[in-house]
Amino acid sequence: MFILESPLKVKNLTLKNRLIFPPMGTGMANADGKVNEKLIRYYDDRARDGYLSLIIVEHSFVSQQGKASEYQLSAADDSTIDGLRKIAETIQKNGVKAVLQLNHAGVAASKSITGCETVSASALASRDGRENSHPLSKSEIKNIISDFADAAERAQKAGFDGVEIHSAHSYLLNQFYSPYFNHRRDDYGGDLLGRIKIHLEIVKAVRDKVGTEYPLFLRLGACDYEAGGTTIKDSMIAAQEFEKAGIDVLDVSGGLYGFNLPGHTTEEGWFADVTTELKRHISIPVILTGGIRTLDKAEAFLTDGATDLIGVGRPIFKDPMWAKKALEQFTERSKRT
Ligand SMILES: Cc1cc2nc3c(=O)[nH]c(=O)nc-3n(C[C@H](O)[C@H](O)[C@H](O)COP(=O)(O)O)c2cc1C
Repeated sequence: MFILESPLKVKNLTLKNRLIFPPMGTGMANADGKVNEKLIRYYDDRARDGYLSLIIVEHSFVSQQGKASEYQLSAADDSTIDGLRKIAETIQKNGVKAVLQLNHAGVAASKSITGCETVSASALASRDGRENSHPLSKSEIKNIISDFADAAERAQKAGFDGVEIHSAHSYLLNQFYSPYFNHRRDDYGGDLLGRIKIHLEIVKAVRDKVGTEYPLFLRLGACDYEAGGTTIKDSMIAAQEFEKAGIDVLDVSGGLYGFNLPGHTTEEGWFADVTTELKRHISIPVILTGGIRTLDKAEAFLTDGATDLIGVGRPIFKDPMWAKKALEQFTERSKRT
């Protein structure tokens, strides 16, 4: 049997194979972030007949202040639970597990969308240069930690098989993690342990709400690839701390303002060197995503010990039948060899 076709158990969650759909913001929710029929159909199409083992549902804002864009999915209050349940059930009825990604955009949010002051680890200019973020006070940080914990509890109540904390792509938790953005002088800044203090407190607060057995993923923008930003050395220590704190799966991404390795062209799995290195330092499963387009290459990454799970994003985003076609071809070929 190929590793790609083999199951992986994460606490009480059994993934039947190693192919997953990573979180992909659709911008299809209602203006208030609620679920609608179009979004349910979108997830139904991608889960159809259970070819994928797991869908990590797109980043969902944990509070209005942390909303990244219009029509983003919400997990910000209890009125979202019924709609979220429909997404979870739709995915699960196809035999696919469902995890909800939780996010706060930090300075990547915009007052014109949220109606709230833009916040971050430090005073930073927004990407469009229109706003400067307010550096969060310690009591405001505590509120954000509670927002993540409350949102995680909602995801659990909605029937999701787990939650993923978003700390990549230059959103709020990435803004704390990276010295490129985090210029604080208090205990939420400075060295790496200071810069991941908020993460560790979120993990603890989430655990207090959802219990020790509920699968908890964290997506880490591992390296910034930018002068003054994070490097593999930071992510090695951070990954170990996250494992110790109770994270069950490390979902690896990277790059400032996106999910790219600068300068990469068409090579598949551009974060494979990062995941390979991180796997030497932690024992929890790792997800590798970024440019993977063939299951032969996916299997090679699994065999080489570069990763435990493979994320394929844009191909499945564009073509809901991608997993069916790719897995059927792969299984057919594997029978012949
Ligand atoms: C339209 C779009 C939306 C995305 N939304 C999210 C998101 O909500 N959360 C997240 O962590 N990454 C998000 N990503 C990044 C993807 O999960 C993935 O890492 C990226 O597309 C690279 O993988 P791929 O080459 O297989 O597409 C998004 C990417 C795209 C193109």
